Amino acid sequence: MRDAAPQAIYLSDYTPPAYLVDTVELTFKLHPTKTRVISKIAFRPNPEASNKTFYLHGENLDLKWARIDGAEVKANQTELGLTAQVPDAPFIWEAEVEISPETNTALEGLYMSKGMYCTQCEAEGFRKITYYPDRPDVMGVFSVTIECDEKIKLSNGNDLGDGKWHDPWPKPAYLFALVAGDLVAHSDSFTTMSGRDVALNIWVRDGDLHKCAFGMDALKRSMKWDEEVYGREYDLDLFNIVAVDDFNMGAMENKGLNIFNSAAVLASPETSTDANFERIEAIIAHEYFHNWTGNRITCRDWFQLCLKEGLTVFRDQQFSGDVRGHATQRIGNVLALRARQFREDNGPLAHPVRPTSFVEINNFYTSTVYEKGAEIIGMLKTLIGDEAYYKGCDLYFTRHDGQACTIEDWLKCFEDTTGRDLSQFKLWYEQAGTPRVKVGEDFNDGTYTLTFTQTTPPTPGQDVKDPKVIPIAVGLLAENGNEIQTTKICEVTDEVHKFRFTNLDAKPVPSINRGFSAPVILERDQTNAERAFLLAHDTDPFNKWEAGRALAKDVMIRMVTEDATPDQAYLDALITVARDNTLDPDFRALALGRPSQDDIAQALFDGGQTPDPTRIYQVSETLSQSVAEAMQDITPKLYAEMAVDGPYSPDAKAAGKRSLQNSCLSLISRIDSGALAAKQYASSDNMTMQFSALASLLNVEKGEDENIAFYKHWKDDRLVIDKWFSLQVMSAKLSKATAKAKEMTAHPDFDMANPNRFRAVFGALAGNTAGFHDPSGQGYGLMADWLIKLDAKNPQTAARMSTVFETWHRYDADRQQMMQAALGRILNTPNLSRDVTEMVTRILEA
Ligand code: BES
Ligand code: ZN
Repeated sequence: MRDAAPQAIYLSDYTPPAYLVDTVELTFKLHPTKTRVISKIAFRPNPEASNKTFYLHGENLDLKWARIDGAEVKANQTELGLTAQVPDAPFIWEAEVEISPETNTALEGLYMSKGMYCTQCEAEGFRKITYYPDRPDVMGVFSVTIECDEKIKLSNGNDLGDGKWHDPWPKPAYLFALVAGDLVAHSDSFTTMSGRDVALNIWVRDGDLHKCAFGMDALKRSMKWDEEVYGREYDLDLFNIVAVDDFNMGAMENKGLNIFNSAAVLASPETSTDANFERIEAIIAHEYFHNWTGNRITCRDWFQLCLKEGLTVFRDQQFSGDVRGHATQRIGNVLALRARQFREDNGPLAHPVRPTSFVEINNFYTSTVYEKGAEIIGMLKTLIGDEAYYKGCDLYFTRHDGQACTIEDWLKCFEDTTGRDLSQFKLWYEQAGTPRVKVGEDFNDGTYTLTFTQTTPPTPGQDVKDPKVIPIAVGLLAENGNEIQTTKICEVTDEVHKFRFTNLDAKPVPSINRGFSAPVILERDQTNAERAFLLAHDTDPFNKWEAGRALAKDVMIRMVTEDATPDQAYLDALITVARDNTLDPDFRALALGRPSQDDIAQALFDGGQTPDPTRIYQVSETLSQSVAEAMQDITPKLYAEMAVDGPYSPDAKAAGKRSLQNSCLSLISRIDSGALAAKQYASSDNMTMQFSALASLLNVEKGEDENIAFYKHWKDDRLVIDKWFSLQVMSAKLSKATAKAKEMTAHPDFDMANPNRFRAVFGALAGNTAGFHDPSGQGYGLMADWLIKLDAKNPQTAARMSTVFETWHRYDADRQQMMQAALGRILNTPNLSRDVTEMVTRILEA
């Protein structure tokens, strides 16, 4: 059986640290199984603390000795830390511990990846390196000495030579980093706005040097952007990035030494898709932007995580919008928000953007904290306007530089610059659940009235919600398609809130929540004729796309529930959009996309029905086939028109054309049994075209030879083989998906210790909705087996992956029972981690 339930930590219990840190000197004598860490830390009592207990966090550390002011002390050790008697005055703590990086498979703390030493300390990994007050509101100036035979030795800040490093900026321990190994650098430099030269390096293993150029370019563009848009300059003479193959997350913003999952930084045209390039650009920007929103100003405690993550996601989205176009980026962000955050917010794991308690903080790096956190910043900007937004940000940066802050500190900056009371706005951070906004319309005597009624459903631990302030962007169109009211923000503050538009000749067609100005679910009676009208005429690109999406959803739902045939009006609308040369190719590709099977399952559930994943799969196939047939006269021509000449470039324009071209290819493959896809596969010179061709082939159950050839050709490239593993499982139909996933775990290249490879197989199984939810329950069983296995090695990645079960409540009694059984089996595993225990308990409880 499990240990007694681990203790929850509450925001309301926050107290300031008893002792503050001035300086930290660390010496690492690196060894795979016997690394020695010698620490010398200058502490002083915190005048603001009432508590005088000296407590240091520490986990799995073998303490060799400890001294206070030079005298050996006997510390009181527990599993999680130690206490000791200390003077009521500044003092020096010294200690030596032994740790074993090679056997650290959790990839948190100091660990090894392919012979290279590296660290991951956020959120609470530093305590696995040495005894320390491992909380973000304790900030110190770090000096580091690395002793070992490795060629390259890196840490934060400035390089003093000989494995010695000094970081002049006080920082919390979670931003500490160390890397040592046989690395080579792709180097460059950047001159900041005040004329300082910064040396830039991307450190990789020898064979990866040709995959660094794009990341470097993205880094320089990010540095420039943050200067131009937020006035933020880089603050060290050196900025290092290291690529690591074994990494739990995408990347980490350690001061002056960002560490990246190789998949999130390495790119080449031959091995990376357009989507890879786009993601790498965004992650590089994100981690770089943390230098101000996260590092210079950090979080007081981990409940404030959205202070740095929500804001930094918002900033990276702004950057990507500027680089790649705001309309399509917004659509992509909303697709992801709905697929992940709405799903989370409407299930058992729903929690506020600023949670009030947690057991394991790693479980709260969620879509809600990140993506909904970013939406809140966007709403703030919409409500107060651009000028006030940047003014408030400037105040935040000057007022709080060097501090560990809260959401209250952040909001106060905007209250002070605008004079506006943001207390109702703050509810966005405190209340979980996706608000529903019901739209009522009335036209009378030239006056058009919109009535918004807001409700937020109960979520775990929060039964009752207060009305929030919701900025809903509205435009009005006349019957002839002309815009008669440009975008105007309706600030909904009451439960029922009316807005009037006067002096109109006739009832207008409203375009509501333009640009997805608020992360809410609109509930309205809208006819498909109105949707088709907006798809044709709306001047707001997001709502133009949204209208098509609503149409598609309605069509699919009626196919599921009424056995309807694919709606001709919808098919006609698709043809019109596909043909419309005034629309960007990437927009047209997005408009041709259909709702995912998971979307339809959620929509059915929201409408009070029990979704059947097998049926949804069939409908999705039928509709795709109908679209392919309806469009077969135009797709070959469009495919030819979208051909990109010349050498591959990952820019948005070329990527947009390839995207539309590959949308066409997937439709054409349903008609020509993959003939064109085989041709594209054979002639492609970049991964985007090659991989799309292979995916189209496998989707129509062709391409056996290409599939084998692809593996053979790329077998030494881990990142390409991850894609290949994923595709095998994604393209397996229905009950074959689980068998395929199982087969892939027996493949010689399967390595469960590598999170990318594990996710390639099991993320794909979960993403294969009908396969995972196969009525036999075998998908659930296999998933549970492997989550149990993974938990013993890597609790953090196992816990994240356990969210594949968060939708169990949507399904029929049989499936519910089988999912609960799978979850119960996980929960009853001896020595289950705190991470997975918390997740599975929460998933089951609600
Ligand atoms: N600070 C995080 C990385 C992190 C997350 C460390 C969880 C420890 C636990 C980093 O800034 C981050 O947010 N990375 C994202 C990518 C980003 C583009 C949203 C990631 O790793 O997925
Ligand atoms: Zn981040």
